[in-house]
Amino acid sequence: MATGTSSASTQLENVASEEAEQIASIVKATEAQLRFRYGNKPPFLRGVHPKAHGCVEATFTVMEKLGEKYRVGLFAQPGRQYRADIRFSNAAPLVTPDSPEDPPQSGKRGHGSRGMAVKLHGVGGKRLVPDDGEDTQDFLMINQPVFAFANVEDYEVLSRVVAEDKEDPRRFFGRLASTNEKVRTRAEVTKKIIDRIKSLSLPDAFAAPPLSPLDNRYFTAAPFLFGEGHVAKFSANPAAPVEGELGDAIAEKDYLRAALNKRLAVTGGDDIVFYFEVQRRPIDANLNIDDDIENACTFWDEKKYPFEKVAMITIRPQDINAREEACERLEFSPWHGLVEHRPLGSINRMRRTVYEKSWELRRCPVSTAPASSG
Ligand code: HEM
Repeated sequence: MATGTSSASTQLENVASEEAEQIASIVKATEAQLRFRYGNKPPFLRGVHPKAHGCVEATFTVMEKLGEKYRVGLFAQPGRQYRADIRFSNAAPLVTPDSPEDPPQSGKRGHGSRGMAVKLHGVGGKRLVPDDGEDTQDFLMINQPVFAFANVEDYEVLSRVVAEDKEDPRRFFGRLASTNEKVRTRAEVTKKIIDRIKSLSLPDAFAAPPLSPLDNRYFTAAPFLFGEGHVAKFSANPAAPVEGELGDAIAEKDYLRAALNKRLAVTGGDDIVFYFEVQRRPIDANLNIDDDIENACTFWDEKKYPFEKVAMITIRPQDINAREEACERLEFSPWHGLVEHRPLGSINRMRRTVYEKSWELRRCPVSTAPASSG
């Protein structure tokens, strides 16, 4: 149940007393990791999702016949159109082949974790961070309906392990064998949730590798405010995903870029459509703040809270190679947006400063390496 004080957002969140300190430690670890990865010299790439398959221009159109209850914030005006930039990526922290063999030389190729980041321009309205210099609403999505880490506390352990073990996360997942009961219990809960998700036949989430980045479904995974009295998660769902065998193409290290390029070829390509959907639920006694908001591993039952179409994303045929530099410079954040869609929960609170640190390093000109802050 919702607990707490005055404003809608604070009533909805339970902030642990040690969170600010943990976030500061994660920001530090993010910087240390990037400096380690790139030999302490620019160019630095994104902290995660450094590999783009390509950026595209698109149009985001709020549904003409949108139910009254969905007319909130960005969606207040049925039929309104926004110009959008979209960046498709791999989530992996390093630029690696799109579908590496896992385990190596096993012949087995995993689905991989992918991203779709959408930036809508000219949104107007009251901003979450008034001086962010943007007039955008960003949606950062991954190809799973939940995030792999519950909260700041877990992510801090992961960051420390990855920093100490030179990018190797295995010790974090080894928490299942921890002698600390609290840590072990949480690791068991996370494992159960992940196992349950894998056992559900979720659309695309853990299925075979996609034919192209346009054939995946993507989710914000973490929750957001949806105006007064509701919270929501969002999803971009391809209207006509193409299925089929990848064959030898999967062995190509950049097969997703090649596929994106081919599907959007200027001559002969069709418009690609994603439905943009909202999974809206009321702030009521069924909403458990610690599970449903503060734990980003919690799956919201789609039978109880179905996703509904609220907008359409249309991607016209285009040359994805024409905008390489601009693509790399784009900066997405769940905190770029309207107060009506405030990011909620521990994982989202942390992202605000972590992304800023990643941008700060990415903005460094190649010729003047900044001094390491240790
Ligand atoms: C629900 C959880 C999350 C989702 C859906 C998500 C999604 C994404 C996506 C799609 C991108 C790529 C944006 C682009 O194309 O430029 C991204 C970038 C990034 N994410 Fe996340 N992410 C999540 C949680 C986190 C967490 C917990 C951290 C670490 C604290 C993190 C750190 C980063 C960083 C450092 C970048 C690169 C920022 C930049 O330099 O532009 N993310 N995320």
